[in-house]
Amino acid sequence: MAVRKDVQKSANGKLIGKEALQRTGFATALGAVFATIGSAVGLGNIWKFPYLTGENGGAAFIIVYLISTLLVGLPVMIAEIMMGREARSNAIETMRKLSPSKSQPWWLIGVAGVLSAFLIMAFYTEVAGWVFAYVFKSISGGLLSTDPAVTSQAFTNLVSSPFQSLLWQWIVLALMSLIIIRGVSKGIEATTKRLLPLLLVLLIIIDIRSLTLPGAVEGLKFLFTPDFSKLTGAAILTAMGLAFFKLSVGMGTMTTYGSYWKDDQNIPSTTARVMLSDLAVSMLAGLAIFPAVFAFGFEPTAGPSLLFITIPSVFASMPFGNIFMVLFFLLASFAATGAMLSLFEVPVAFLAENTKMGRVKATVITAVLLGVIGSTAALSSSTLANFTVFGKTMFDLYDYLSSNLLLPIGGLFIAIFTGWVWGAENIRKALSNHGTLKNEMVVNAVIVIIKFVTPVLLILVLLNGLGIV
Ligand code: TRP
Repeated sequence: MAVRKDVQKSANGKLIGKEALQRTGFATALGAVFATIGSAVGLGNIWKFPYLTGENGGAAFIIVYLISTLLVGLPVMIAEIMMGREARSNAIETMRKLSPSKSQPWWLIGVAGVLSAFLIMAFYTEVAGWVFAYVFKSISGGLLSTDPAVTSQAFTNLVSSPFQSLLWQWIVLALMSLIIIRGVSKGIEATTKRLLPLLLVLLIIIDIRSLTLPGAVEGLKFLFTPDFSKLTGAAILTAMGLAFFKLSVGMGTMTTYGSYWKDDQNIPSTTARVMLSDLAVSMLAGLAIFPAVFAFGFEPTAGPSLLFITIPSVFASMPFGNIFMVLFFLLASFAATGAMLSLFEVPVAFLAENTKMGRVKATVITAVLLGVIGSTAALSSSTLANFTVFGKTMFDLYDYLSSNLLLPIGGLFIAIFTGWVWGAENIRKALSNHGTLKNEMVVNAVIVIIKFVTPVLLILVLLNGLGIV
């Protein structure tokens, strides 16, 4: 691993620990912001957010999602970034270093996080594989049909072929490995810095196209008319789960990224900006999808079929639709890339730092493990379609376990550890950059929320995930 050449100083001018000098971090503060937004922005924005919003009462759901993001997602993100930067270590080592006594097993939170990273990657790389495949399929014009029965067949052909499913997943894994091997700054930072602006430009082009279609206003109504009658208890808890998944929190991704942040970065205000950028991308994605869906009289289906069956038919219905379809799947692949890099980095950072192997070997081992675990998800619509646990295919099981169990449990323990074990004094020092920032009001609010509000709300999410509430 390359050694950082510049000598880093902490906010009060003191040299920071010698571990920091042996690790590479993001080269610039702006780069850290790009990489962190790159982690949050992902497939979650492009299909989860729009269809969940449509399904659960439009603007009413967005309001609840915003509140959840503020009271659950953002506080845990602040906690993770803060602890990572304080310890300058990977997800497991950070918990070990910050825990007050070596006999307390807080590092298990980190272990659970690394396991979650593998589970999420197992199905995420498969969905990303479909997105990458669709970039090529739309270039060749193979998806151009206004008839959902035809586009549905195209999707079935892809997912029911063991060879194609594995091939695309492994292409994705290989691409991610090539970026990760280059390192935190030259790999992750450099990639996300290029892809995010492109993603935004492509999204805005498609927004303009979608919003200027005759009949687009129906899509706006679908997305924004607040229907409070649909806002059931389950919908409220869904919004909280989404807030978690969206901000990549609850398993050490943000801890790992925080360990690469600069000492003088203002954590509360920068994470708030990351959260707002992510929200903006979600809204832009909703505005790209629903006006076009309604303009051509399609039904807004939920889940994978919206993205991979309805959307191609929608594009096929518009003039020059093929070009817009290519741009759409290209931007989705950019979004998926930044998110996957952050997931990949969690085990790689741990392996590279806690064993003697270097970053290259750590990346290869992670990719091979992901290839093995991921293949059980990739084959869940073909060879392994009948292999189910608790009535779920491996693909669904990994999705369910990570979102409904591991992330909320992880988030709960992170909040408890930060608020009650690590404590208010440490939080105050870390978030004010050792007194350099005059942000007492914000810091006090964070402390109260992380100690009292976040844990209670998380227990509710958890009970919902287990089907108890
Ligand atoms: N936030 C990403 C998305 O919306 C997914 C993601 C990346 C994630 N890293 C994560 C989710 C860590 C949970 C935990 O697509």
